[in-house]
Amino acid sequence: MKVTSFLRFAGFGIKTILFRKKDPILGTVIVTDRCNLKCKHCSVNNITAVMHPYSQIQGEMKQLYDMGVRILFFCGGETFLWKDGDKSIRDLVREAKQMGFLIVNVVTNGTFPIDLPEADLILLSLDGDRERHNAVRGDTFDTIMENIRNATSDNICFYMAINQINKDAIAEVCRLARDTANVRAVSFNFHTPYPDTRELALSKEEKRECCEVIKKMMKEKVPVFNLKSAFPYLIENSFPTPCHQCVVIENGKVSVCGRCIDVPGLCEECGYFFVAEYTLLFRGNPKVIFEMLRTYLKYV
Ligand SMILES: C[S@@+](CC[C@H](N)C(=O)[O-])C[C@H]1O[C@@H](n2cnc3c(N)ncnc32)[C@H](O)[C@@H]1O
Ligand code: SF4
Ligand code: SF4
Repeated sequence: MKVTSFLRFAGFGIKTILFRKKDPILGTVIVTDRCNLKCKHCSVNNITAVMHPYSQIQGEMKQLYDMGVRILFFCGGETFLWKDGDKSIRDLVREAKQMGFLIVNVVTNGTFPIDLPEADLILLSLDGDRERHNAVRGDTFDTIMENIRNATSDNICFYMAINQINKDAIAEVCRLARDTANVRAVSFNFHTPYPDTRELALSKEEKRECCEVIKKMMKEKVPVFNLKSAFPYLIENSFPTPCHQCVVIENGKVSVCGRCIDVPGLCEECGYFFVAEYTLLFRGNPKVIFEMLRTYLKYV
């Protein structure tokens, strides 16, 4: 991370903590909800299947920038499916950088060729070893690994949503993150139980066991892009929600925190690690502040 970006984020953090401000810093643009997969744990694919036009997405990026957002994520649906004429997701990333976003990340299922060196991080969803990943995501593991091997940059971070199907595959994903070329780190979420996927949710005890495995992997020098100081809060679901410093925009609609904000009761069962990490950070939790500084300076 550039020194100027670091200073800007530090200033934002100090103001937010001292004055209990609710301004956003992290924003997500949903470029489409169309997807080539139908993963067992996912409730947000192919609801409209609309590919939002380039001019609309440009406008949404500008809107987030004007709100103060400086960390931008592109998400879907499948982001790499997005196109408008000759414009691709790579053009959106370049445009975001030109607009002044300091960090620009893309979330993808990894089933398309990866040529996105301009992104700071490509969060690539890998949900287990071959067997368990394919049980969640269909027969895609080998294609994804091939795409990673052929990627034109080393800015990939595995992104695993831990659920009942893959909860015993954490160590395998960690070792793959450590040993696979072009992969820089791994980041986790627990399954967030939307009404149609409640059966995949983890119990408190299962979350505790998962966190123990992740901590063990951290000790074995696996590059984990999460904060262990947030684990106790994730296990108990005792972190504050929603995250006011995060916003998402989908087809012109801005939501605080996530597009899941309208699902009744879901925030009390939220499994997204970024929500715990950011809300604890901006409440001034000293352990989280210290670990966040160390982790972000290492991986971004
Ligand atoms: C909705 S997908 C969109 C981007 C891309 N299609 C992908 O799969 O990475 C973004 C991330 O959300 C995760 N996800 C989907 N449903 C979830 C849930 N109920 N709880 C936690 N994570 C979930 C996916 O595993 C993926 O890592
Ligand atoms: S690839 Fe992503 S958007 Fe598509 S179904 Fe899977 S999790 Fe959902
Ligand atoms: S806190 Fe609520 S809105 Fe935010 S990601 Fe979790 S479930 Fe979604």
